[in-house]
Amino acid sequence: MTTVGKKLEIAVALLSENELVAIPTETVYGLAGNALNESAVVKIYSAKDRPSFNPLIIHVATVAAIKEYAELDPISQQLAEAFMPGPFTLLLPKKSIIPDLVTAGSSKVAVRIPRHPLTLRLLQQLNFPLAAPSANPFGYVSPTTAKHVLDGLNNRVDYILDGGPCEVGVESTIAEVKDGQIILHRLGAITAEEMEAVTGLPVVQKVGTESFETPGQMKSHYATKIPLYLGDIPTLLQEHKEKNIATISFCKSYEGLISGHQYILSPKCDINEAAQHLFAVMRNIDEFNFDLIIAEPFPDKGLGRAINDRLERAQVIHK
Ligand code: TXA
Ligand code: MG
Repeated sequence: MTTVGKKLEIAVALLSENELVAIPTETVYGLAGNALNESAVVKIYSAKDRPSFNPLIIHVATVAAIKEYAELDPISQQLAEAFMPGPFTLLLPKKSIIPDLVTAGSSKVAVRIPRHPLTLRLLQQLNFPLAAPSANPFGYVSPTTAKHVLDGLNNRVDYILDGGPCEVGVESTIAEVKDGQIILHRLGAITAEEMEAVTGLPVVQKVGTESFETPGQMKSHYATKIPLYLGDIPTLLQEHKEKNIATISFCKSYEGLISGHQYILSPKCDINEAAQHLFAVMRNIDEFNFDLIIAEPFPDKGLGRAINDRLERAQVIHK
């Protein structure tokens, strides 16, 4: 049985017994377990049906704690101090205390300090880091509310710590400092421009490659059950006239569509609000009998880029 609540002491007790707890972060909810305990880590992979070659991010409360589990070079430290706590993950050489299972055998570990106050308090009360992938069954859209977690993982997690809807709404930026450059592995709220401004180093985007060095880029990620196409809404509507269609747009409404078929992510054209709503809307549409989802490309900057990246990944599986 899964219960939902706001009690930190329940979360602390379960995690200390190497059980699983879903935790709120500012990006998406995570499915957390003791990162130093192999049996807890095995439970995470199995609750999600996640292949064990896809490594997990560890979550800690402070930059000092990062150094207990990974080697923090000066540039990475600069990035950590600028963007943590926040929607930002660093890939770092791991220390041996982190089980190979967490990193799927890689010598590098992904580390992040979430900024959700409840989860930060939780991490401060634990004497181990939390391994936590997004709290969804493998391949589905990440959860941004406690209800989303329950929908996907009921009976597969003991407790869901309810911290309300996630503030950012898309997963963290993943970056790595390598050979005088910053490799951007996953697009998120922290942008290449911001990382360049802090470090003076060029940012090289590795997003979208299929290499297993960046398994976050696997095709089956973020997919709705209903096929999703990304492109110009009026053109695609015309091409699929006979179908029962839902649209996802930024702030514009389109003529010729019934209102219940149009999902506008931010009527006031605020990209932060659009990102907050994206996954909830994708999940919501999936509950109805639409044949097809048509989404338009979002502005190609900041969080708009991260939204486009998730939409592209959601569509590719159906092609
Ligand atoms: O915002 C987030 O990062 C959320 C919250 C819960 O913290 N977590 C999250 O975890 O999105 P997950 O597991 O769904 O995505 C993490 C991605 C995965 O695609 C994984 O392949 C990649 O990060 N990753 C983790 N550790 C890695 C490593 N050692 N080397 C390369 N990629 C890694
Ligand atoms: Mg995920």
